[in-house]
Amino acid sequence: MAHKQLSIIACAALLLVSCSSFNGRSEMDRYLDDLMGKMTLEEKIGQLNLPVTGTIVTGQAQSSDVAARIRKGEVGGLLNLKGVDQIREVQKIAVEESRLGIPLLVGLDVIHGYETTFPIPLGLSCSWDMAAIEESAAIAAREAGADGINWTFSPMVDIARDPRWGRVSEGAGEDPYLGSEVAKAMVRGYQGPDNSLSGNDHILACVKHFALYGAAEAGLDYNTVDMSRIRMYNDYFPPYKAAVEAGAGSVMASFNDIDGIPATANKWLLDDVLRKEWGFGGFVVTDYTGISEMIVHGIGDLQEVSRRALDAGIDMDMVSEGLLGTVKKSIDEGKLSVSQVDQACRRILEAKYKLGLFDNPYKYCDAEAAAKYVYCPEHRAAARRIASESFVLLKNDPFKGEKILPMRRKGTVAVVGPLANTHTNMPGNWSVAARLEEAPTLLEGLQEVAPEVKFVYAKGSNLVADAAYEQRATLFGRDLHRDSRSAQALREEAVRIARGADVVIAALGEASEMTGESSSRSDISLPDVQRELLEALLATGKPVVLVLFNGRPLTLGWEKEHVSAILDVWFGGSEAALAIGDVLFGDVNPSGKLTMTFPKSVGQIPLYYARKNTGRALPEGHWFEKFRTNYLDIDNDPVFPFGYGLSYTDFVYGETRLSATEMAWDGAIEATVSVENRGAYAGKETVQLYIRDVVGSVTRPVKELKGFQKISLEPGMGQEVTFRITRDMLEFYGSDLKKAAEPGEFKVFIGPDSQRGAAVSFTLRPQ
Ligand code: BGC
Repeated sequence: MAHKQLSIIACAALLLVSCSSFNGRSEMDRYLDDLMGKMTLEEKIGQLNLPVTGTIVTGQAQSSDVAARIRKGEVGGLLNLKGVDQIREVQKIAVEESRLGIPLLVGLDVIHGYETTFPIPLGLSCSWDMAAIEESAAIAAREAGADGINWTFSPMVDIARDPRWGRVSEGAGEDPYLGSEVAKAMVRGYQGPDNSLSGNDHILACVKHFALYGAAEAGLDYNTVDMSRIRMYNDYFPPYKAAVEAGAGSVMASFNDIDGIPATANKWLLDDVLRKEWGFGGFVVTDYTGISEMIVHGIGDLQEVSRRALDAGIDMDMVSEGLLGTVKKSIDEGKLSVSQVDQACRRILEAKYKLGLFDNPYKYCDAEAAAKYVYCPEHRAAARRIASESFVLLKNDPFKGEKILPMRRKGTVAVVGPLANTHTNMPGNWSVAARLEEAPTLLEGLQEVAPEVKFVYAKGSNLVADAAYEQRATLFGRDLHRDSRSAQALREEAVRIARGADVVIAALGEASEMTGESSSRSDISLPDVQRELLEALLATGKPVVLVLFNGRPLTLGWEKEHVSAILDVWFGGSEAALAIGDVLFGDVNPSGKLTMTFPKSVGQIPLYYARKNTGRALPEGHWFEKFRTNYLDIDNDPVFPFGYGLSYTDFVYGETRLSATEMAWDGAIEATVSVENRGAYAGKETVQLYIRDVVGSVTRPVKELKGFQKISLEPGMGQEVTFRITRDMLEFYGSDLKKAAEPGEFKVFIGPDSQRGAAVSFTLRPQ
C-alpha cells in the first residue's frame, strides 16, 4: 500500500510538473527532446515495433528472442502478455538492460472486462446505460492496470449493419449517435474522466478499427469496403471522432481497403481526416500484421508497404516487423525521411510519458493491487448487475392465459440445450484474460439463484448437425463437447425430461466463437438441430422459455411466431448465469433494448432503421405494391427493430408535446412525453428521441436517433421526460462534407423503439 501511495504522490507531482512549461516547451517536451537527442535512428525505429511476446508467454523471458531484441532497443511495446510478475520481468529487461532504458507499452485485448468479464460489447450497448458501460471499462482498467497492462485495444466502435459479420459482437451496433455515446463512455472508463492516466487504475485506450471495418462487403471479415464519403461522414465516422474527442490516446488502423487503399496505408484517412481534421494527437498502431498483409492486398513488397504505412501516418507496427526491417533502407534510398521516424517515435514516447512510465516503469505492475482487485467480489457483483441490464426481452406473451416470465421459484424446471451447461462459453469471444472455467454454467447459475426449484438437465442437441462446422465454430477449445449420440436420441432425452417439468428453459443459439473475428455466417438462423429440438420441446405442450445466446442479430421469424417467451442474453460475461437467473426469476426486470435490427431474412441485409426513402418508397403499413421498393417474397420489416425490448411491466407513452412549433437558429425547443408504468413491476425504460429532417439539400434518413433517457418507474408511477432540441442535433454533412443544419421542417418521434412514436413537427427558422 505504501508503495502505491508513493507512486500516486509521484504521479500527481509529475502531472503538475508536466503541465508547467518553460520557454514554451512543456516538461514533457523537454524530457523527450533530451531523450530523443540520445537515440540512434535504429533505436527510434525500434520504438515503432510492437511484436507478440513469443516465448515470453511461456515464462522464459530472459532467454526469449523478444527479450534479446528488447535489450537491443528494437521493441517499443509488446502484446499478449499476461501476469504481473512476467510483465515486471520484461519491463525490467527494457529498463535495466537496454541502452536507454525506455519502458515498454504492454497491450492486450481487454475488450469487455479483464478477469471479471462483462457482456460482449453488443450486449453492453443494449443496456443503453452509459454509466454502467463506463463503469465496466473502469473496472476492466483497474484489473488490467494493476496486473501489468497499460494499454487496451478497445473500444471497438465500428458501426455495423450486416449481422453476417461476426465482429458485430464487438461493437455497439448500427447507430452513429448511440455508438458515439458508447465510445465516449468507454474512453472515459479506461482513461479516467479527465484522461489524466494518473494512478494505475486507468490505462491507455485504443479506438479501433479505423475505419469502416464494419462495412466489409457481404459481411465477410476483412473484406473490401467501398463507400461514399458522405456516408462515411454521416454514419460511420461519428463514433471514431467522438472517441478521439474524448481523448483516446491511440487509434488502430483497420484491415480493410478504402477507395482502393488499405486503411493502413491510407494517407487521406490517417492524416487528412484523423490528424488534420479531427486534431488527433496520439499515435496510430496497425492491426495485427496490418502492414505485411498489404503485400497480399497487392500494393507492394514489404519495404514498399512499410514505407506507405509510415508515410500515411502509421506510428507503430503490430507484428509485421515491416518498419523495423525496412525503414532504414527506405531512408538510405531517399524514400522516407528521418523526420518521419522522429515524428512516429515521438508520438509513442509521448504516450509512455503520459502513462507515467518514465517516472515509474513498474507503475502498472502492482501485485498488491492486482491481488486486491482482480476478479474481486465487488467487481463480480458489478458484472452481474450490468449483465442483467444488457438482456433484451424479445417476447413475453401469455401462454395458456398466463405469462411464463418472470418464473416462480417452485416446481421442476427442465434446462435443455447445447448452451445450458457450458462454462467457458459463457463470457463470450474476446475474453482473453477471463477465468473461463470458473464462469458458472447456466444450469449452475439457476441452481444458485433459485435453490427452491428442482432443475433437470439434458443437452438436447449438439450445436449444429455438421461436425466440421461445429469444430470451426468452437475453435478455441470452448467446452461444447460434441455428443456422439444421434440427434434423435439427444432430442428424445430432452423431450422426456421436458414432459416431467413445469417449465422448460431452452438455452439455444450460437457458441461464443461463432461470432467475433473471422466468424462470418451466411445463414444467421438458429442452427438446424437446435431448431428441431425447439420444435420438439414446444410439441410437449409445456411452457418454453427460449434463452438465446448470440453475438449478432439472428433471423428469428419462426421463433417469434411459435415461442411465447424469448430472452436474449448475448454472452453476458463471467457472471452471466447468475444474471440470467436474476432476470428469469424476476429479481431484476429486464430493460435492454436492441442496438441492431434483427432482420427476417439474410436477403434483407443490410436492414437498419435509419434508412432513406427512395422515390418509390412503400407507403407505411403496406408490404407489396408493383414498382415500389419491396421484395416479392418478404415484406420490408425486421423481426425486431432497433431500440426494441420489452419489460415485465407495461410502459404507456402519452403524446409528444413540443414547447414551440418554431425554433430560432440559435434557439432550442423542448419535446416532452409522459411515460407511465401501468404494470405490476418496478422497471426501467429507455425513452428514445428520433428526428427526421423532412427536406434537405441531400436526401436524409427517415429518422435518426438524437437522444435517449433511461428512467426507472415504480408501478403506478409516471414521469414527464423532456428532451432539449438544439441546432447541433439537426446538423449533418452535406455534399461539401461540411456539417451544418438546414432550415425547414423537422419531425420528432419519441417512443419505446425506432418504430413506435407518432410524429410532431417543428420548423427551424433561417439564421
Ligand atoms: C484484431 C484486433 C486486435 C488485434 C490484437 C486483430 O486480429 O483485429 O481487434 O486488437 O488482433 O489482438
